[in-house]
Amino acid sequence: MVQVNENYLKLKAGYLFPEIARRVKAFSEANPDAALIRLGIGDVTEPLPEACRTAMKNAIDAMGTAEGFRGYGPEQGYAWLREAIASHDFQARGCSISAEEIFISDGSKCDSSNILDILGPGNRIAVTDPVYPVYVDSNVMAGHTGPADERGRYGGLTYLPITAENGFSPAIPDEPVDLIYLCFPNNPTGAVAGRGELKAWVDYARAHGSLILFDAAYEAFIQDPELPHSIFEIDGARECAIEFRSFSKNAGFTGTRCALTVVPRGLTGRTAAGEEVELWPLWNRRQSTKFNGVSYPVQRGAEAVYSPEGQAQVNRLVRFYMDNAALIRRELSAAGISVHGGEHAPYVWLRAPEGLDSWDFFDQLLQKAHVVGTPGSGFGAAGEGYFRLSAFNSRANVEEAMQRIRNL
Ligand code: MLT
Repeated sequence: MVQVNENYLKLKAGYLFPEIARRVKAFSEANPDAALIRLGIGDVTEPLPEACRTAMKNAIDAMGTAEGFRGYGPEQGYAWLREAIASHDFQARGCSISAEEIFISDGSKCDSSNILDILGPGNRIAVTDPVYPVYVDSNVMAGHTGPADERGRYGGLTYLPITAENGFSPAIPDEPVDLIYLCFPNNPTGAVAGRGELKAWVDYARAHGSLILFDAAYEAFIQDPELPHSIFEIDGARECAIEFRSFSKNAGFTGTRCALTVVPRGLTGRTAAGEEVELWPLWNRRQSTKFNGVSYPVQRGAEAVYSPEGQAQVNRLVRFYMDNAALIRRELSAAGISVHGGEHAPYVWLRAPEGLDSWDFFDQLLQKAHVVGTPGSGFGAAGEGYFRLSAFNSRANVEEAMQRIRNL
């Protein structure tokens, strides 16, 4: 009989968002008339920017002609998209990242899991707590952890708590770690990291030969011009970091799928025998073997993000969601709830009312206000007692949700 990957049996319950969906479905079936407002999963709600739609439609029309038809594209992505990204997102900010170092993909969730294919099994891994669950679960699946304890923490991982007490800033570990997951602006807490903080991580990684996996999926939501958008704005990061970015949240591509990973040339790891190996060729080989690229129309849509109209439309979308976030912050604060995040990120991170744990508050909001959020404990043990609300929804729904929460 076929053998299974038993690492999957170590995973705690369901993946957070399917578990929420399961509870919401059960509630909706029992209460078919309840008008639910979903501020749980960070999925965008506003239409795709017109510049992107036009570019996608034109690309589809071109595919309907003999001259414009395209089959398999380059596994790394089309050069014109990689060049636009390198120039607008990196070189314009002073980061020396070239088009060749950018790999187009169908999502940061996939990339941040798939990257483990090119890394060995013996790395000591550090994650924040709370954390985007994909970083942890993908390591569990790959067999890089022991079993979970009663708080849901996996053996072998180094957890770096981020709570109100430390200003949501993870402390540099006091033990050597090889692989470090950082996400700024942070999912789920909405916290940001300044240059000094990122520099301390880059210095640590260079001193210890560690690799930073930097998730910048929410960089477009940064409002303060002083805050770095990329780890590559920090000197020395090319020697120790890989960065993930996405078109999902800024340009509304959660349904169309387009993202990118930056792997600098010259960035290295080691074999068990101590030989230095460059990571770029390994990732290039991995993508060439296991991935056939993002569809041509979607890449044309992503390219249009960098046109002047595309930039204006994306900025409007970001402004729209950030106004939602400001509204959520304002209303919850007025209701006496302590709020964090939501100033440079589309997530507001709040304290569940006294006496309620994260899932209690989830159930209360669902049952009494018909509002769906995300329990903080689903992101890690240190998220217990916290709760995340996403700013991705229509203005009318956010206003209505806040009204219902106020009335609780
Ligand atoms: C979230 O709600 O945390 C996001 O949807 C995560 C993701 O983009 O996969």
